[in-house]
Amino acid sequence: MRAHPAGPRHGEILAPIGAPPQPENAEALHALDAQVWPLGASRSDGTGLTQRSVSIAGVDVRDLAAEFGTPLFILDEADFRTRAAAFRSAYDDPTVPADVFYAGKAFLSAHVVRWVQEEGLNLDVCSGGELLTAVRAGFPGERIAFHGNNKSISELELALESGVGRFVIDSFEEIVRLAEAAERYGVVANVLVRVTVGVEAHTHEFIATAHEDQKFGLSLAGGAAEEAVRRIVKLPSLHLAGLHSHIGSQIFDTAGFEISAHRLVSLAASIRDEHGIEVAEIDLGGGMGIAYGPDDDPMKASDMADLLRGIVVKECAALGLALPRLAVEPGRAIVGPSMITLYEVGTVKVVDLGAGHSRHYVSVDGGMSDNIRTALYDAEYTVRLVSRVSDARAVLSRVVGRHCESGDIVVRDCWLPEDLSSGDLLAVAATGAYCRAMASNYNHVPRPPVVAVREGRTQLVLRRETTDDLLALDAGL
Ligand code: LLP
Repeated sequence: MRAHPAGPRHGEILAPIGAPPQPENAEALHALDAQVWPLGASRSDGTGLTQRSVSIAGVDVRDLAAEFGTPLFILDEADFRTRAAAFRSAYDDPTVPADVFYAGKAFLSAHVVRWVQEEGLNLDVCSGGELLTAVRAGFPGERIAFHGNNKSISELELALESGVGRFVIDSFEEIVRLAEAAERYGVVANVLVRVTVGVEAHTHEFIATAHEDQKFGLSLAGGAAEEAVRRIVKLPSLHLAGLHSHIGSQIFDTAGFEISAHRLVSLAASIRDEHGIEVAEIDLGGGMGIAYGPDDDPMKASDMADLLRGIVVKECAALGLALPRLAVEPGRAIVGPSMITLYEVGTVKVVDLGAGHSRHYVSVDGGMSDNIRTALYDAEYTVRLVSRVSDARAVLSRVVGRHCESGDIVVRDCWLPEDLSSGDLLAVAATGAYCRAMASNYNHVPRPPVVAVREGRTQLVLRRETTDDLLALDAGL
């Protein structure tokens, strides 16, 4: 049994087993691995050890900390746009027309919405809040896909009013709710059926047998997906636009996507045989993995696109189907590497682990309220000292937050310079996806701001929450 880090047995998992290899020298301890850090990250030149701070897109992190405070999310705009554009061009192939939907759940704000639009991508939203952000930022409704396993009637109505182009249907109830709402509005809603294809994939492994046992989608094996299609085609206020599947997140292995594509195309063939309808669109969802550490080796967007196109072309030819339009929904693969989190070190505690081992507990001014992924998924991150470099020896360290919980860990096992002390700035890489988006106010801690940097300039994307913002909700004050 493995104890949860917050639990009483947490001492057992403190042993320095599983720590990443010790950096060979000071250079390695301070290196900014290109596949982990934003494209605009660099250390300043200069020989003085204290001078070699890190800049993002030409802006020194020390200046950002002074202006915006810490913790701070720093978003490299050019990095975001480059990754978005790479997806756009990877799927820009006339033989298999395709759309790329940026999955806003990874991180969304009005500026990001505009960048997505300018880079020619569509948008995937999964709540009324995400939808309103997109609409108020001027994103065209017809380029939005609306997801969710329990969309409320008012959310469906908002989407209809906003002219949302695709509704991804996730239940029999939703078919009825949406059909009735569309009728009230006198419109025909385009729907995709979210199919549970029997594949679940995460990181390096995938499983393609069971995994019906989860809340999303309508089962292919159990016949619910075909039944949903039967109900949809009978309703004049709904138009069956396509089939959708999403098999997981942070995936490196393409085999899961291959099986999913195969199963969706087979379902399209049986829909043609039963209803005489050619399915116009196949959406394979998101989930493309990114590098959180130097050993992660994600696939290039263009290689993945070639592979997916190849599968769909082959499967359609085998079944005599007209080629559908393809869609993918990357979130993490676009925004994940574009953002870093900047923290200030507050305290450093050296804890004796016995047998000659010790661990430096480095407490920063954020934690599980701005990055829950380490506590929730055992996620691994890369951290660096960024306000200077140090020639002190590397010591086994753990970056922890400021919350009242021992599971409040940001980076579980890392090496940092022994002379780290209060006031030093640390940066954690690849925190763009599902960190600010999943932030909480645990311990009444206000959520950090997001600032975008580009060509030496800064732009506030989300302001820092204040304690007054939080207290304003308290009906007793
Ligand atoms: N499309 C659908 C229907 C999804 O449910 C998701 C993610 C995506 C696209 C985007 O997936 P991505 O490309 O970002 O992997 N909070 C977790 C991830 C949850 C993903 C939920 N759905 C994490 O922090 O790892």
